[in-house]
Amino acid sequence: MNLLVTAGPTREPLDPVRYLTNRSSGKMGYALADAGARQGHRVTLISGPTNLDVPTNVDYVPVETAKQMFEATRAHLGRADAAIFSAAVADYRPDSLAGKKIKKSAERLTVELVRNPDILGSARREFGFGGVLVGFAAETEDLEKNARRKLRAKGCDLVVANLVTRPGIGFDSDHNEVLLVYPDRSEALPVETKVHLARLIVRAVEEALILRG
Ligand code: PMT
Repeated sequence: MNLLVTAGPTREPLDPVRYLTNRSSGKMGYALADAGARQGHRVTLISGPTNLDVPTNVDYVPVETAKQMFEATRAHLGRADAAIFSAAVADYRPDSLAGKKIKKSAERLTVELVRNPDILGSARREFGFGGVLVGFAAETEDLEKNARRKLRAKGCDLVVANLVTRPGIGFDSDHNEVLLVYPDRSEALPVETKVHLARLIVRAVEEALILRG
């Protein structure tokens, strides 16, 4: 299959030297891209900035901002049979980008933020994607409830939910513990390496594709 994977954080610039971002290392997404390529799939990896080596046999599309990830996804999704959105996309970006470095002067500085496009939420509605759609849910509470809400709202076949408050899993760890949330059931997987979980998630995507016929 043609598999599209989004990975890593996005960077939302404030001025030429500063940006807003999050703690995503890209490890989960790169493991998914690598697992897909090892299974013989054609993988496109759209990634925000990370320190990771790009997996072999993967088409790599580097981006920085959420808007760039949105445009890259729009450009590549049409060719995909399945898409896994594991990127930690910034929901908001600074409303204006200062042309010069913001100088230290006042005691307080207010930055106004505006919403970024919801890439996963656009897949079905705006991009007309009809393939297997897998989202992630990074939650700090009510894991299953929140993941199921995302599954329905964004038209996903599967949401991979993880709690991002537990030490040793989630952001920037080599391990994760995920709950696979399908429209009709859920399956909890024990703590495992992201490499191992990626293989299981790619297998779940392959099965979903077969079920679609
Ligand atoms: O990168 P690592 O350090 O390995 O960490 C892995 C991870 C914790 C980042 C990963 O497992 C994970 O949870 N990724 C999703 C992070 C996230 O932004 O979750 P969310 O619940 O805020 O978003 C829900 C879904 O919508 C996700 O599929 C996300 O990619 C997508 N999204 C969110 C906002 C947006 N503007 N566009 C999107 O496509």
